[in-house]
Amino acid sequence: MCFTITLHLNSLSLIFASMENLLTQIDNLKQAINHFSSDDVNVAEVFRIQFIGSNGSVKALMGEMKNVAPENKKAMGQALNDLKLLAENKWEELKNLINRQEATGKNKTDLTLPGDSLSLGSRHPISIVRNKIVSIFQRLGFAIAEGPEIEDDWHNFTALNLPENHPARDMQDTFYVSQDPAWMLRTHTSSVQVREMEKGELPIRIICPGRVYRNETISARAHCFFHQVEGLYIADDVSFADLKQTLYFFVKEMFGEDIKVRFRPSYFPFTEPSAEMDISCLICGGKGCNVCKHTGWVEILGCGMVHPNVLENCGIDSKKYSGFAFGMGIERITMLKYQIKDLRIFSENDVRFLKQFESAV
Ligand code: DAH
Repeated sequence: MCFTITLHLNSLSLIFASMENLLTQIDNLKQAINHFSSDDVNVAEVFRIQFIGSNGSVKALMGEMKNVAPENKKAMGQALNDLKLLAENKWEELKNLINRQEATGKNKTDLTLPGDSLSLGSRHPISIVRNKIVSIFQRLGFAIAEGPEIEDDWHNFTALNLPENHPARDMQDTFYVSQDPAWMLRTHTSSVQVREMEKGELPIRIICPGRVYRNETISARAHCFFHQVEGLYIADDVSFADLKQTLYFFVKEMFGEDIKVRFRPSYFPFTEPSAEMDISCLICGGKGCNVCKHTGWVEILGCGMVHPNVLENCGIDSKKYSGFAFGMGIERITMLKYQIKDLRIFSENDVRFLKQFESAV
């Protein structure tokens, strides 16, 4: 504990005539000294300067002796000597305490102690799965392509065979940034396909990971933003068999050799024919459970052969070239891989959840 003692020496000289006043000051100082305690070298040094030092308060009070009336000098001298002794004893006490502590090692830096470990944080599960997806396709020769998150109507819809008023636009509730001309938060990474095809460099073999936005009510299964990976392969003679083979390779690398796969016919305006790919449910192994709605299968992506209209919209001769495309949600794959039941947890930044992925790569 440290008491700060402030002494107003100027006021002392003014009231020198009052012996009582001087004695009160001495008493106050004695109390302060008695209560003083610290094991900190620096604080103890402040005590020494303030009390014992040549500019300290005890010396200053001694200087007042000359102003004390002769009949009071003796009593005053006695009181001052007591005060001086008290301050010197306290100073000895403080020194001893500090010396003892130094001898026992307290207050000393122990250089042999191990350092404090720094916690480095971990990768978000969405990043882990995204990186895994990307690396699988990179091994097949796919390059990464990226595009803007704020898109125009042409790249997000029209070029993808979704002209204005096309009913399929309602499949994806859109956040518009402006109406005329229409700018929006991209609803899917398929917009990057269009940007890549427009570059006119063939063949094209790309994957486009990225964030997408939809005006959805947030629930355990839907969010207003999420992540997708789009794939596109355009060359001379690409067939549906190439698409299947590529996706078979992907799921086996992602989920293991034992995974079963099936394709179901589906509809997307930008592909013809279109399909959805299901994998056998990882939770129940195909027997049927809540997650697979008792079918034994869960859907993981949409795909198909790029519609000739899309190729032509992007300046590619659809008689000469063909291609396949696919698109998958990273959240969905992550939920299946790590058996996570609520999609909202991905954006809550709960360290207890995120820490579980520390050792995942
Ligand atoms: N863009 C679709 C979506 O967000 C996913 C998709 C389906 C992408 C089929 C494709 C595809 O490239 O061929 O729901």
